[in-house]
Amino acid sequence: MLNFWITAGVTLLVGLAAAAIYRLYLHPLAKFPGPKLAAVTHLYEAYYDVLKKGRYVFEFERMHNKYGPIVRIGPNELHIRDSEYYNTLYNMTNRLDKYEWFYSMLGNPQASFGTIRSDVHRVRRGALSPFFSLKAVAKFYPHVQSIVNRLMQRMELCSERDEPIPLFYAYRCMTVDIISEYVFGHQMGMLDRADWGSDFYSAWRSLWELSPTIRQLPFLMDLIMSTPRWITQMTDPRALEVVDLFSYIDRQVKIVLDSDPEKIEAQAQPPVVWELSKSDVLPASEKTFKRLAVEANGMVAAGFETTGGTLTMITYLLLTHQHVFQKLLEELEEAIPDPDNIPNVLVLEKLPYLFAVVKESLRITVGAYSRLSRVNHHESMRYNDWIIPAGTAIGMSALFISHDPLIFPSPFTFNPHRWLEPDGSIGATALRLEHYLVPFGKGPRSCVGLNLAYAELYSVIATVLRRFGRRLELFETAERDMEVVSDYFAGMTRRPNGVEGNGLRVKVRKL
Ligand code: HEM
Repeated sequence: MLNFWITAGVTLLVGLAAAAIYRLYLHPLAKFPGPKLAAVTHLYEAYYDVLKKGRYVFEFERMHNKYGPIVRIGPNELHIRDSEYYNTLYNMTNRLDKYEWFYSMLGNPQASFGTIRSDVHRVRRGALSPFFSLKAVAKFYPHVQSIVNRLMQRMELCSERDEPIPLFYAYRCMTVDIISEYVFGHQMGMLDRADWGSDFYSAWRSLWELSPTIRQLPFLMDLIMSTPRWITQMTDPRALEVVDLFSYIDRQVKIVLDSDPEKIEAQAQPPVVWELSKSDVLPASEKTFKRLAVEANGMVAAGFETTGGTLTMITYLLLTHQHVFQKLLEELEEAIPDPDNIPNVLVLEKLPYLFAVVKESLRITVGAYSRLSRVNHHESMRYNDWIIPAGTAIGMSALFISHDPLIFPSPFTFNPHRWLEPDGSIGATALRLEHYLVPFGKGPRSCVGLNLAYAELYSVIATVLRRFGRRLELFETAERDMEVVSDYFAGMTRRPNGVEGNGLRVKVRKL
């Protein structure tokens, strides 16, 4: 028996040594620069992302400074830091697949977001895109505005009671209500929750924090999803929020699909899930209940934290840059005489200073921090003098483009003026800089919810400033609370649990 274990141990060690030698010296990426350990094993990434909690993307900075613009960050993966290459890698005609290992952390390859193969994605995206067009979102905008108004009412109530408002949570409640209304025509009622959805957020946060581990051990996701509810209740009651959310979404999708066609078609804008179920573009296999439920789930997950996080940062930036706040308020007071009548996003986005504030905020907050890894299975690619073999994963993080000092001088300064012409209008400068504004990614896999996200950003900023103006002030929010410390796809600040951090809190002074 002892002999068996010794033989097994030696065989394993020899196997590991052989794999390491292959990856270091014989692998098609052997000549690419980078840390040797990263070339040998995914555990290098696990050290930064699992043990140090979402820190690998921040490590890329040091790696690029040492090794140059292209670095081997994993056994079969490269990362490029070169703002000029972003549009080449992610361009519209490049039919690249997503890197399966990287995206395994999402656990939803049937949703557009998690779809690996570009040909499968093309069909799904073709069906989804029309419902997120500028026109579709402009039509939905009154719903957005009415949900934003509900947030304003609750903030006003806090003001009357002299209570601080945990905007970190409040914005996320709002984005969940908006996306759920859009996708299945029914709000989740997060804005009515007494705890401002803090348990809901906490459960999601646990899932995101687990995502780098799931990437290393993909079977974990299936294990979590197949664990009976009662076991989850015993082991981690807060995780039930996520499990129950998935069941809730399933129920909502079923309700939509079982709706009376006449009634639902009579709505000004039927829910996205209904539209997808009737799509001529999708084959029947793509319109099953399960597939549509997974797609709905993916949209909720993709649409709530990203937009909520961006809004949190914008508000903080405005409150800590009073000259910007003041100038924006003046523009809004002039353009919107009645705070109870906020114009459509199509009007708001034409206000030059508001436009500049939104763009600059998106730039400085980065959006998705993660490298968006792609694989070209068909042919090799070129980067400068490097030939990247077919089948290699290549990623770029928006972090390095958004904060590139050659494109955005003094990149950490919040300076909306950089987007405008000297006379304060929107013109060629904005057009030039937009090329490098990549919080939503670029190309065929870029954010389908971009127009909805912009509608939310414009509506909230205009409404909050017009409603509360100078009555709005920070409440016990330290710089530490706003520091992005982890990359779990979106860049995340410390958990606002009162122990690690507090998140953004504000007060609205009483009238
Ligand atoms: C500020 C807010 C947002 C940011 C920064 C953001 C960022 C991104 C990025 C970078 C991607 C590309 C992901 C990749 O390549 O792997 C993406 C994809 C996606 N986003 Fe967003 N997003 C935001 C808001 C939204 C909203 C409101 C929705 C609502 C539905 C949404 C839905 C999606 C979906 C479904 C995809 C997958 C698209 C596809 O692969 O075809 N996002 N988002």
